[in-house]
Parts: sequence; C-alpha cells; structure tokens
Amino acid sequence: MSNSSSKGSALVTGASTGIGAVYADRLARRGYDLVLVARDEVRLNALAERLRAETDVTVEVVKADLTDKADLLKVEQRLATDTTITALVNNAGVAGSGDFVGSDPDAFEKMIQLNVVAVTRLASAAARNFAPRNAGTIINLASVVGLAPEMGMPVYGATKAYVIYLTQALRAQLANSAIRLQAVLPGATRTEIWERSGTDINAIDPNILMDVDDMVDAALAGFDQGELVTIPSLPDAADWDAAQAARAKLYPNLSRNRPADRFSKA
Ligand SMILES: NC(=O)c1ccc[n+]([C@@H]2O[C@H](COP(=O)([O-])OP(=O)(O)OC[C@H]3O[C@@H](n4cnc5c(N)ncnc54)[C@H](OP(=O)(O)O)[C@@H]3O)[C@@H](O)[C@H]2O)c1
Repeated sequence: MSNSSSKGSALVTGASTGIGAVYADRLARRGYDLVLVARDEVRLNALAERLRAETDVTVEVVKADLTDKADLLKVEQRLATDTTITALVNNAGVAGSGDFVGSDPDAFEKMIQLNVVAVTRLASAAARNFAPRNAGTIINLASVVGLAPEMGMPVYGATKAYVIYLTQALRAQLANSAIRLQAVLPGATRTEIWERSGTDINAIDPNILMDVDDMVDAALAGFDQGELVTIPSLPDAADWDAAQAARAKLYPNLSRNRPADRFSKA
C-alpha cells in the first residue's frame, strides 16, 4: 500500500476488462488511487496486482453485480459517502443483438438496469458527494449508437441516448458548478462486448473498429480539452457543434400556445 494520492480515488465500473480496464490503467498512471468494480473478482484482482506493481497508487477491488439491487446500493453508498473519491467512470454496460422482436424482454430489462438505472444511481451518488466540495469528475460511457437510431439497436441505442442526454442535461443543471462531466461516445471498439452480445468481431469492417487503448486515450484527451461530449473518431469538433446548433434551432417552436399553422384544417 502506498500513501493516498493527492488526486484522490477514481471509482471505475466494469473495470475487469475492455474500456474500463484501460481507464483503470490510464487513471493509475495519472496518479489516481482506484476502486475497481465488476463481477469477475479474479480478473479485477489480476488487474489490481499489475497496477500496484507498475504504479504507486492504491487499488481496491469491489466485486459487485450492478444489476443486483443490494450490490448496486453498496457501491452507491460508497460513492455517496467516501470523500476520498474524486472521479467516477460510469462504464459498465452490455449490448444486445439488436433484434427487438426476437429478443427476450428480460434481457432488455437487465440491459436497462445496468446501462440506465445503475448509471443514473451512481452518477447521482457521485454528484451528491462532489457537490458540497464543488469538485469531482463524472465520465459516462455512452455510444455513437445513441446518436443513430438508424443503426438498428432500439434498446441499446436508447440506453446510450439516455446517457448522452443525462450528461448534457446535468451539465445544464450544474452550469455554475466546477464538477467535471463528460459523455464518451465510442464507435465500434475492440473489446469483449461483441462476443458477449453474440456478434463475431471478425465480421466487423476493420476500418470502423478502433483499438481500445486508442479509444480511451482519445477520450481522455477530449476530457483534458474540456469537451462535454467526446466522439473519439470525429476529426472536426465543429461537426458536433453544428449538430447541436441544428437541434437548438428547433427551440423557439418546441412549446407554444397554439398548434402550428400546418396542422390547421384547410
Ligand atoms: N466496445 C464497443 O464497441 C463500445 C462502443 C460504444 C460504447 N461502448 C460502451 O463502453 C462500455 C464498456 O464496454 P466494453 O466494450 O469495455 O465492454 P466489455 O469488454 O464487455 O466490458 C464490460 C465491463 O462491464 C462489466 N459488467 C458487465 N455486466 C456487469 C454487471 N452486471 N455488473 C457489474 N459489471 C458488469 C464487465 O465485467 P464483469 O463481467 O466482470 O462483471 C466488464 O468489466 C459499455 O458501457 C459499452 O456500452 C462500447
């Protein structure tokens, strides 16, 4: 065990593999102590041991299934009350086949439990912890699918649209707060999520598939640049700004005291 780091601790969900494991590695190298959360304790411990050997930070492992209410409340309680925690990486998530008609609705419910309910409760706990100190960081892993209903993943995409909205709306609500927020929208990234959701990763066009180390490094660069929403593969941030401006153009007419003329009877 080393001394506590001056940066405090980062709690990373879904840290046993994939994007979460790379965040754990990068945040340790940035000097954050770590609280690593996932179900697979063996893998969490292996990562923790490596990071303890390679860095100076302390690493704690918390085995939790975030779709299990008791486990979720345990992590939530820790996030809400441990003032050494200064960052949350809200990363644990599952994808699915995308087939709305043929999929088991219980699988959708479980996906919503993890991708929406757990993400919301953990962000809320972190915000309650950080607000009195006017400091802290919440990074939420969304997906580009959340911007693109045409990709044909109705439930997964909706959970990720939720994460984008949550992050943006929270920024608006915490406009005067120094709490740092970021939604990360990876495109296809080389992790186990594909195999776990029954998709052969080898069937994916390699031109659209990013290495997980590159994805997380770009996302952290976006964070360092102060981006609220980061799309690691997007060359020109002005394209995102233009999309937001197009949405804002609807504002003056989103709520009025009478229907638009185009709906009146001729
Ligand atoms: N890879 C992509 O192409 C891609 C693209 C866009 C967005 N994303 C998003 O990025 C995030 C990470 O994805 P990834 O690609 O790294 O996925 P991954 O390789 O499948 O890893 C998912 C992580 O979440 C954990 N997890 C899964 N179910 C859990 C549960 N019930 N309770 C606690 N932890 C759980 C897993 O650990 P255990 O199994 O040990 O619990 C694992 O550590 C997700 O939110 C995903 O939607 C990924």
